Amino acid sequence: MLTGKTVLVGVSGGISAYKTVFLVSALRKQGANVHVIMTRHATEFVAPLTFETMSNNRCISDMFDRDYEYDVRHISLAKAADLIIVAPATADFIAKAANGIADDMLTTVVLAAKCRKLASPAMNTAMYENPVTQDNLDKLRHYGWGIVEPNSGPLACGDVGKGKMPEPQELLMHVIYELACEKDMKGLKVVVTAGPTQEAIDPVRFITNHSSGKMGYALAQACAMRGAEVTLVSGHTALDAPMGVTRQDVTSAADMHDAVLALTPQADMIFKAAAVADYTPATVYDHKVKKSDDDMSIPLVRTADILADVAKIRRDDQIICGFAMETEDLLANARGKLERKKLDMICANSLRTEGAGFSGDTNVVTVITADEVCELGKLSKLETAHRIIDKAMQLRAARMEG
Ligand code: CTP
Repeated sequence: MLTGKTVLVGVSGGISAYKTVFLVSALRKQGANVHVIMTRHATEFVAPLTFETMSNNRCISDMFDRDYEYDVRHISLAKAADLIIVAPATADFIAKAANGIADDMLTTVVLAAKCRKLASPAMNTAMYENPVTQDNLDKLRHYGWGIVEPNSGPLACGDVGKGKMPEPQELLMHVIYELACEKDMKGLKVVVTAGPTQEAIDPVRFITNHSSGKMGYALAQACAMRGAEVTLVSGHTALDAPMGVTRQDVTSAADMHDAVLALTPQADMIFKAAAVADYTPATVYDHKVKKSDDDMSIPLVRTADILADVAKIRRDDQIICGFAMETEDLLANARGKLERKKLDMICANSLRTEGAGFSGDTNVVTVITADEVCELGKLSKLETAHRIIDKAMQLRAARMEG
């Protein structure tokens, strides 16, 4: 996701510098060209050779190192970078960067660079909470820096509190969100539904389905990566909310119906990837149903069709996308749903196709609109999500012109 991008990783002197080694490795695995600049104190925690090996580029810590390929290197590195991330960012580094002090290679490059900059503060809780540090962080925000909030927990110094540098994977996601996608959805409000609903029988049992939520979560993540404001209405899943996404947890089809209908008026796009129960028990017992010798049967009633109700209140400028998971007659069934539910597009997939289905990380989707059938082929769910969004954005652009 970062092929062709140059990321400059700044390392200042804190114990979490060891985690930055994994960040550098993860950035390279995503295709980025990575340069590491360390402060002198950082070299006490991790040897420059470690970063040099992981980045496959010369690691710089000395402002006056003569043995280096770049001309006027603080300027050339500053120009080459698409993004700078300083992790860990110590209180000392933050104070210097906030006040324009440039007394070593890292602070000098940072001052010379015009690209987007991120800082991941990591320090003792009292140092982090000190109003001086907080003022300096506000200053950095004012100057356009992105600040990655530190986590809370036991710190290396023995204290427990805020100040832990997030894990490398989380920092990687911040870089990916900044660099990987064009922000073509900036200003758009998107609602995504995901996961299964649960229909209670009694306090112990419920009826549900095999949906993992992965396709809907991938859509929410892709929309957020492209700059949209995303609300994810999610049934119970084992997944964490994607970065930058607001999640509303729901249980039953009725809960999901209420949440989606309340969000519909403000939404520019709605993606309904959830596997909603079509039937719910007619009676929900308030006690555990005991077994008996009688035949057990559960009378069911239909749930409200959320998309059908969205269709009743939708505006023409909104793009509504449904999903159809079928086992037979994929295209005919999906097209029927497109028309019946008054959708702009529907994503059809067959449970019988290799690479498609609930729990895997890939999908094989056919996107159907009023006048197009587009087979996406087998892709990761995230890549599938981006291609679905491309189509939704095309429809929106055409709608806006017309
Ligand atoms: N859907 C919905 N409300 C429901 C059931 C489904 O909004 N009560 C949405 C799903 O989120 C999906 C689309 O409708 O985007 C198609 O869901 P699916 O279960 O395939 O369609 P049904 O109309 O329920 O058709 P059937 O179960 O007969 O295949």
